[in-house]
Amino acid sequence: MALLCRVAAASLRVSRSRPLVAAAVRASSAGAQYQHILVEKKGERGNVGFIQLNRKKALNALCDELMREVGLALDEFENDPEIGAIVLTGSEKAFAAGADIKEMVDKTFQECYAGNFLTHWNHVTTGKKPVIAAVNGYALGGGCELAMMCDIIYAGDKAQFGQPEILLGTIPGAGGTQRLTKAVGKSLAMEMVLTGDRISAQEAKASGLVSKVFPASDVVDEAIKCGEKIASNSKLIVAMAKEAVNGAFELTLAEGNRLEKRLFHSTFSTNDRKEGMNAFVEKRKANFTDQ
Ligand code: CAA
Repeated sequence: MALLCRVAAASLRVSRSRPLVAAAVRASSAGAQYQHILVEKKGERGNVGFIQLNRKKALNALCDELMREVGLALDEFENDPEIGAIVLTGSEKAFAAGADIKEMVDKTFQECYAGNFLTHWNHVTTGKKPVIAAVNGYALGGGCELAMMCDIIYAGDKAQFGQPEILLGTIPGAGGTQRLTKAVGKSLAMEMVLTGDRISAQEAKASGLVSKVFPASDVVDEAIKCGEKIASNSKLIVAMAKEAVNGAFELTLAEGNRLEKRLFHSTFSTNDRKEGMNAFVEKRKANFTDQ
């Protein structure tokens, strides 16, 4: 399967709205081939990477191979100098209904522990380029966790978020107890994790889990627009800003402020900081070169 993912294909045209290849195994613009995801470049300038989970019948249950493909696609975009932001989405019915229960059902503790089960999902959080989750339908268990690994979450108005692992006799295993608690606070996170109850897109917005809610049919386009806005800034400075904000999740306030200050000072060694400030003073649009 890994081989399938890396088979080279002819270079393909950038499209705003349609898959690049309509076959069981689909190729991304960089040539890698995928079975469970669609990979394209989107936006007016083709500078937004787009990954769509594509296991519709299984409600995008996150089987091991799908998550491996997501990692490969993220790497493709991370290494593509044209790409300034990435959108990750699912289908209208399900962003993702969780880790693949059928794949997990016979696993033993020994296998999980020795194989570090689910640890490779963390790859989603390690890139420098911002990832925007565009969530429609179910974002449950690992699906909710995958959305929370992204940097920004936009939700369609029918989206539902939940950590129902307790109903399966297990607990969230891809960051749900940590990221959800940081996002929505202890009481709501505890309630969701202990009861398995879902929250609506509107509740997710009110609790700070998602930044915006749109009609379901608009959420992907809005996420791409957000990606285009981010991609129009300096990629170098965007990466520094992302690193600084992420520091808030792992560091004390003093450490985080120190990190921010170091990164802020570092921007003064870049051409893009000079260009941005000169452009403001000269009343023109900045022309960033990512240097
Ligand atoms: N894993 C594997 N298959 C799944 C799945 C999952 N997480 N979620 C849905 N599916 C499959 C179903 O088995 C079904 O397949 P078949 O047609 O072959 O039977 C298909 O997707 C459609 O599902 P339903 O018929 O159940 O659809 P529905 O509309 O009646 O219900 C649902 C939708 C409420 C999301 C329901 O499918 C459901 O509860 N899914 C499981 C949600 C869940 O428990 N997620 C947590 C998984 S554990 C986890 O994620 C651990 C972690 O922390 C990483």
